[in-house]
Amino acid sequence: MSDAAADPSRRNWIAITCGAGAVGGVAVAVPFISTFTPSERAKAAGAPVTVDISAIKPGEKLTVEWRGKPVWIVRRTPEQLESLKKTESQVADPNSDRKTYPTPEYAKNQYRSIKPEVFVGVGICSHLGCSPSDRFVPGAQPSLPDDWQGGFLCPCHGSTFDLAGRVFKNKPAPDNLEVPPHMYLSDTVVMIGDDKKA
Ligand code: FES
Repeated sequence: MSDAAADPSRRNWIAITCGAGAVGGVAVAVPFISTFTPSERAKAAGAPVTVDISAIKPGEKLTVEWRGKPVWIVRRTPEQLESLKKTESQVADPNSDRKTYPTPEYAKNQYRSIKPEVFVGVGICSHLGCSPSDRFVPGAQPSLPDDWQGGFLCPCHGSTFDLAGRVFKNKPAPDNLEVPPHMYLSDTVVMIGDDKKA
């Protein structure tokens, strides 16, 4: 039996991601899944995942898998951090008070992160589980408002999130993107799935 067959949550994510890819984004999702080694699959079953983030350049995103979910690590630029002040009044839950996906205390801030520049979030839309696409370039563009500051767009039903994973008001998605438990083992190594020492 394949891992995908053994783990319904993972199978669903793959199916949804590929479905979303039909309208854009599959080029990222498929190579990512195909690169998993057996040990990575074992980690995906539930163990914490340790990630060296030193190679992520400002403005770039790395995706890893934890518990069958895509977890994004984005190193935000100073401009991207600044954009969170502008989106503050446009998002539905700016202080991450909603409880469906409780935000860890250490991420209950405007950046929704431990280090301001590094966002760690689960890349699954809180509406029906599609994986949103990167829309990091600010400005007017299809499916986005003219004052777009950069963030994520869910291709399934149009929910948008800022660069802290905060959902914009009046969108189908009811909640911000989940911030998973995580902690830094060093300046450049983050453990996802465990925060007992944070
Ligand atoms: S699943 Fe994201 S908007 Fe519906």
